[in-house]
This record gives sequence, C-alpha cells and structure tokens, in this order.
Amino acid sequence: MAKVLLLNGSPHAKGCTATALEEMIRVFQAEGLETELIHVGNQPIRGCLSCGFCGKNGRCVVNDLVNETAPKLEAADGLVIGSPVYYGSPNGTLLSFMDRLFYSTSFSKQMKVGAAVVSCRRGGNTASFDVLNKYFTISGMPVASSTYWNQVHGFTAEDVRKDLEGLQTMRNLARNMAFLIKAIADGKAKYGLPETESGAFTSFPDGK
Ligand SMILES: Cc1cc2nc3c(=O)[nH]c(=O)nc-3n(C[C@H](O)[C@H](O)[C@H](O)COP(=O)(O)O)c2cc1C
Repeated sequence: MAKVLLLNGSPHAKGCTATALEEMIRVFQAEGLETELIHVGNQPIRGCLSCGFCGKNGRCVVNDLVNETAPKLEAADGLVIGSPVYYGSPNGTLLSFMDRLFYSTSFSKQMKVGAAVVSCRRGGNTASFDVLNKYFTISGMPVASSTYWNQVHGFTAEDVRKDLEGLQTMRNLARNMAFLIKAIADGKAKYGLPETESGAFTSFPDGK
C-alpha cells in the first residue's frame, strides 16, 4: 500500500496546521493510502551543524526525531510538510528539522510526491509556501498542487474549520496527490525511474 508521511511543524497537536493536515488524511484514507502524521513542532530540534558527520555515517550526528523519521521518509511515496507562519516564514523548529532530514539522508527522493501546507492568521503564507517547496524541487520530487496555494487561515483550529475554501483546497490537494502517487507507481513499473546525472558541482565560474 502506498504511504504518505505528514509533518506537523506547529507546536500545537490540535491547532490550525493539524486541522488542515487532518482534512488531507481523511481523503488519503478514502483513496486507499496509508498515512503517518509526525509531530515535529513540539520537539527541541536544533539546526544543522554542517559538521559533515552525515556524509560519512549516513545519519545526523544529533540523534533525535530526524534520524527516527529518515527511514519513514525513505519508505514513503509522498511527503506533506505542514507549518504555521511565523514572521512571514515557516516555523523555525520545522526548518531546522527539514534542513537536517534532507541533508543527512542520501537515499533518493526522486518521484516521491511532495506538498507544502501553510497556516497563517493573515499574511506571510505564500513566502512560507515557497520556502517549503524548495525541499522538493532540489530533490527530484514532483510537487502536487490544488485549486489555490495550499493555505488555511486562522488563529485557532475553530477558525480553520470556518475557512471553507482553505479546507476545500486541502481536499483537492490530497486528491491530486493521491492520483500522482498512483500514476507514478504505474509509470515506474512501465518505464522505470528517469536517469539522474551527477558529478558536476560548480561553485565558481571556472567550474572548479
Ligand atoms: C511567533 C509567531 C509568529 C507569527 N507570525 C505570523 C505571521 O507572520 N503572519 C500570520 O498571519 N500569522 C502569524 N502567526 C500566527 C500563526 O501563524 C497562526 O495563528 C497559525 O495558523 C497557527 O497555526 P497552529 O495552530 O498550527 O500553530 C504567528 C504566531 C506566532 C506564535
């Protein structure tokens, strides 16, 4: 059974972001997909140390929820990153988690379907959405989209339940994501994964 991993970057287990993710989970389950929701935002997650330990050992030097989540991401066919907006950006705990999760894992994420979901009271949503989508688009991950940018509005979960268009956007996003996951599984069986070139690592104009 295909599996979707969902990350809640909010400190609140039952807040606005969780309400958006739960709306998606109901659709995934109706579509026959397995789901797992991981609460990231209530954990003491430090940022990347850029120490290089992961390059040699295949895991982060800080042994916390990042290393616990890595095998779950490897097994997943889709990833939803949910975050509240803090000062116009995704929540800092979630960003520390995402940097370390993506940097410390060498397995291919190619063709795992990604979707970012943000929750704000009033503003900073699209800037935060852009930041989260960057994890997917540097990793060969197709990005699922919806009928609006993937956002809900509210200060409390109760507010989000009144954001009917936001919830509709979540349901349409989950349906599109489920379709992509199934279509990619068929495509992989028929064509295999596309080739990925590597080796070029250009930091300077002379290519060295
Ligand atoms: C530190 C902090 C910064 C915030 N910054 C913003 C902001 O820039 N724009 C905004 O609309 N809401 C902002 N908010 C409100 C939250 O983004 C909003 O209430 C969100 O829906 C909460 O989601 P949650 O219940 O999942 O935590 C901020 C809240 C906090 C705690």
